Amino acid sequence: MSFSKTIHVNTGIPYDVIIERGILQDCGRLIKKVLPKAGRCVIVSDSNVAPLYADTVRNSLEAAGYKAYINVFPAGEENKRLTAIEGMYRAFTDAELSRSDFAVALGGGVTGDMCGFAAATYLRGIPFVQIPTTVLSQNDSSVGGKTGIDLDCGKNLVGSFHQPCLVLADADTLCTLPPRYVTDGFGEIIKHGCIQSADLFELIEEHGTDMAMIEELTARSIEIKAGVVERDEKESGERMLLNFGHTIGHAIEKCADYTGIAHGEAVGIGMLMMARAGEAAGTSCSGTADRIETVLNKCGMPTKCEFSPEKLCEAAMLDKKRRGEYMNIVLLHSIGDAFVEKIPCGDLLDFVRRGMDI
Ligand SMILES: NC(=O)c1ccc[n+]([C@@H]2O[C@H](COP(=O)([O-])OP(=O)(O)OC[C@H]3O[C@@H](n4cnc5c(N)ncnc54)[C@H](O)[C@@H]3O)[C@@H](O)[C@H]2O)c1
Repeated sequence: MSFSKTIHVNTGIPYDVIIERGILQDCGRLIKKVLPKAGRCVIVSDSNVAPLYADTVRNSLEAAGYKAYINVFPAGEENKRLTAIEGMYRAFTDAELSRSDFAVALGGGVTGDMCGFAAATYLRGIPFVQIPTTVLSQNDSSVGGKTGIDLDCGKNLVGSFHQPCLVLADADTLCTLPPRYVTDGFGEIIKHGCIQSADLFELIEEHGTDMAMIEELTARSIEIKAGVVERDEKESGERMLLNFGHTIGHAIEKCADYTGIAHGEAVGIGMLMMARAGEAAGTSCSGTADRIETVLNKCGMPTKCEFSPEKLCEAAMLDKKRRGEYMNIVLLHSIGDAFVEKIPCGDLLDFVRRGMDI
């Protein structure tokens, strides 16, 4: 029997995540159940994904009775900028979207974050649906309502919390995803295992990136993320755990000028460094970092970066999770058991050095 799972996310405004192959063709009918009164929508997609899937989505939306338009922006993290958002606002006004109409984010995490931000701010907020098409977005970014864009001085520095009203994850779309982004997306799945599920981590230890397992992994990943987000929607406590590996990961991406290393790869290195630093500080049980390194290798992900601890720290100081003289970092007691520690910013260099085994 084919896999189908619906996960309910019980946030302030609750919504469902449906994981099922072939669901793209049926998206109009499913959206109609959630947004019966809307008349118009804009499908936002990037220049790689739109030629592959936008017509299928539009046909399904029109069959359900919606007037559907398509807005395409140039693919890539380097385009996660205000200029692309302005293009989305123009498309929304051209399509005459009202507050009861909606946007559809069709693509990876970049599309979801930007379309979500445009939807959060256009007319002070319109509904939006996530149709994620990458491993990363199906397993992480499409759920939780974090939306935003990058600035020159750092990633995701402008944004808002805006939950989608429905998430439709169709693993069939992953067959066109370049292999590098398949492995990259496993960074966030491994993260979910590290912070809250030794079982999920063990599945990846056993199966690596075997795509026969992907829907099972997605369901477990989304259950973990949904639980964390429900308990702490606006990131004042537990949700910070989802940033495991991200302080250093974002610093690596910034040092690399957002080219040459993908987000999940950078987060993978960040997780390994934090696990090593935790072991050196005596807070993580020994062997934790080795397990993460073995899993990253099994998934074909990098385990090292070329930047000095000083350069990484300088970039990390701009991280928006930093609070004045202190910053929150996420460490592991063991695989599946994470905690947040507030450290003086001056201590980060020591952590990074220990994480790099220097
Ligand atoms: N909001 C959140 O909670 C959250 C969480 C994690 C990451 N993110 C963000 O997600 C972004 C990374 O997401 P991503 O890795 O999905 O990147 P992405 O959206 O850039 O997609 C990766 C590449 O794959 C292409 N692509 C996407 N789907 C495809 C498909 N099915 N077939 C062929 N090509 C396809 C895209 O055009 C792009 O070139 C980062 O900006 C990161 O900050 C957000």
